[in-house]
Order: sequence, then structure tokens, then C-alpha cells
Amino acid sequence: MDQPVSRGFDPRVVKRQFPGLSAPDLRYLDNAATAQVPEAVLAALRGFEIEARGNVHGTPHRRSRAAQAAYDGARAEIAGYLGVPPQEVVFTYGTTFGINLLAGALAERLGPADRVVVSRLEHHSNLLPWQKLARRRGVRLSAIPITPEGRLDLDRLDEVVRADTRLIAVTHCSNVTGAETEVARILEVARAVGARVLLDGAQRAPHGPLDLPALGVDFYALSGHKMYGPTGIGVLWGRSEALAELPPFTVGGQMVRSVTMESATFADPPGRFEAGTPPLAGAVGLGAAARWLGKLDWSAVQAHERRLTGHAIAGLQALPGVRVLGPHDLERRGPVVSFVAEGVDSLALCLRLDEDGLALRAGHHCAQPLHAALGVAGSARASFALYNDEDEVDALLLGVDRALHELRS
Ligand code: ALA
Repeated sequence: MDQPVSRGFDPRVVKRQFPGLSAPDLRYLDNAATAQVPEAVLAALRGFEIEARGNVHGTPHRRSRAAQAAYDGARAEIAGYLGVPPQEVVFTYGTTFGINLLAGALAERLGPADRVVVSRLEHHSNLLPWQKLARRRGVRLSAIPITPEGRLDLDRLDEVVRADTRLIAVTHCSNVTGAETEVARILEVARAVGARVLLDGAQRAPHGPLDLPALGVDFYALSGHKMYGPTGIGVLWGRSEALAELPPFTVGGQMVRSVTMESATFADPPGRFEAGTPPLAGAVGLGAAARWLGKLDWSAVQAHERRLTGHAIAGLQALPGVRVLGPHDLERRGPVVSFVAEGVDSLALCLRLDEDGLALRAGHHCAQPLHAALGVAGSARASFALYNDEDEVDALLLGVDRALHELRS
């Protein structure tokens, strides 16, 4: 089922590996929300359920061993994609859960003398867990401002990051403006005050393998369903020494050393953070997605995604009364293109586009403070994946133009 490694890249060939995209009238441009799954992932899920379904953690029968082998194999696959050792990979239910896990664990470590720094660019998933920590534990919360074009304003980092900062938690790539974070500049300031750094990688992880140790951060959260894997599975990666400092967040089955009626001692990471029966099929599917992604020629894929993004930005920006949010230059910018159209509600626009088979997201995209900072209540968003092509961008531009004429008349 695996595709051979080949140089270069043809989105139309790749698209044929995605059964969910076979409908001729569907132009799926909501990949930042959820991407489609390739045959390789579907086959892995089916293979697991038929040949290896059982529970993990040492039950002495062959199905349990098969399930354990599949789960361990999946951890190794996603670890390879991230460039990290498997024991640093904690399986979660998605980015939101991963960040809640970290915030919940830190609730036992941080208090009123400590600060967490987020940014105005964040998805609610990387804001609300820290607001909760601030409410419950008195932890101080500050936000890095953004520039008018929707990037982190790193020239103002020093105003926000103080000696009491224990964690800087920011997006690796915005789900609204597409801006990618200059991680080195965050790290420089973080290291100066001894703070750890978490990146919300939900929007970056689908766009090419990572080398997290070289990136230099301490924690990284991602979701399987945005990177061609199943829903309900994700990863929180942490450096060994960073994970070792943390208490568990959820407690229960499978994550202990010993338990009495009064107390418990906990397993080493990653098991300590994986209470209960893990989402085994999801992990297997994510492992298959990572393996599939690992076989692509990423310089070609990234050039392709950049071309689509540039084409969409230029075409939308040329339409009367349309404003593309986020940077218009393609440097450090992901394939997410959010836009607003004067006099037209983004939901009405996307409902009209859906009639033409164009699937876009409308609203605040779980980033209300960011939209407020950009001076709008919401936006329409096209987000590209490796299987999209130039014809789909042309269809988007034509569709938006036509819809705006209709909705404005
Ligand atoms: N976080 C996802 C998005 O931005 C759901 O669409």
C-alpha cells in the first residue's frame, strides 16, 4: 500500500489516493479544519481492527501483543516524523487535549508568582487552558501583541516576557493569518529568563516533517486529523527532561506503578500521561499517516502549497472590496487564506460557495481575540492541502467573484 519515494510531486496523482475526494463536484478547501485521509491510512485502520484489535499493556494473549506492537509501531512512526525519540511522544486526543494536559499538569507546579505568555494570534485551544490556569491558580497571563498584518510582534517580546515567565505558549502557524512564528527569536527571550516553550503545531505539522530537537522548543502539540490521519488522536511531544518534571493530568488505569487505597505512584512518561485505554486505532492511523507523509518529496510539496497560496491571495485581493487577512508575502506563511468581503457576511458567502461544491470555513475560526485585533468579527477561510491544485484555486476565485455579485445585488 505504501507509495514508492519519488522526487517531484503531482497533486492529481496524490489526490487519487484519497477516496473521500472522488466526488467530481467537491473542491475541498477546509483542510486547516480537517484534512481527508489517504487509502494508506484507511488500510491501516482496517488492518488494525481486523488483525490486531485487543487491549494494550501486557495482557498475556496474542491479540494484546498484536495491539501493543501496532501501538508501539505507531508511536515510532510519528516520532520519526517529528525527529524525536518515541518515549517523548504522548498520544492525546488532539491539540486541544494536549495543551489542556500540559496546563493541567502545570497547575500543580505554578502559582501567583509565575507567568505564562501566550499571544494575540492564538486559537482558543492555546488560550483558554491558560486562562483557566490563571483563574484557578492565580498564574499571571500576558499576550504578545500582533502586527497589523497578523504576525507576532516580536519586537515587543521584551515588554511581555518578564523574569517570572515560566512558559511561552504560542502557535507555530496561525490558523487565521497563516503567519509562521520565528521560533528562534522566541527561544532567545525564553532562555534568557529560563522559560519553557510550547508550540501549537496543529497548522504546521501537516506541511512537512519536523526536527523538533533542532527547532529547540520544549513542547509541541498536534492533531492527527489535520495531517491526513483519523480524528480523536493527537500528540503532545515533550523533551524527556521537561516531561519528567510533570505530574499526570488524567489519572486512572494503565498509568501507574503501584496503587494503595490511599495513594499511587505513576509510570514514567509517556505512560504517565496516557490514562485509560488509549485511542489505539487512531494512533495506528496517525502512524500510517506519518509514514505516508514521510515518503513525499517535501521541497516539491511545499513549493506547490506556496504556489496555491500565492495564487489565492493575489486573486482574492484583486476582487472588489475583498481584504485578505494575514501577510501577503509568502515567507514564513502557511497555506491558510482568510478573507473578508465588504458588505457580505462570511457565513452567507461560504453557504453560497458550498452550492458550487467549494468547501470553506466561515466565522471566527476559534480565534475571536485575533479577529477583534484585526478589526473584523469573522472571515471566510480557504486552506490548502497537498492534493489541491491550481484549477481548484481558479474555481474558488470564480466562485467568490460570482457569489459576491449575487449577494451584493
Ligand atoms: N482548529 C481548526 C480550524 O482552525 C478546527 O479550523
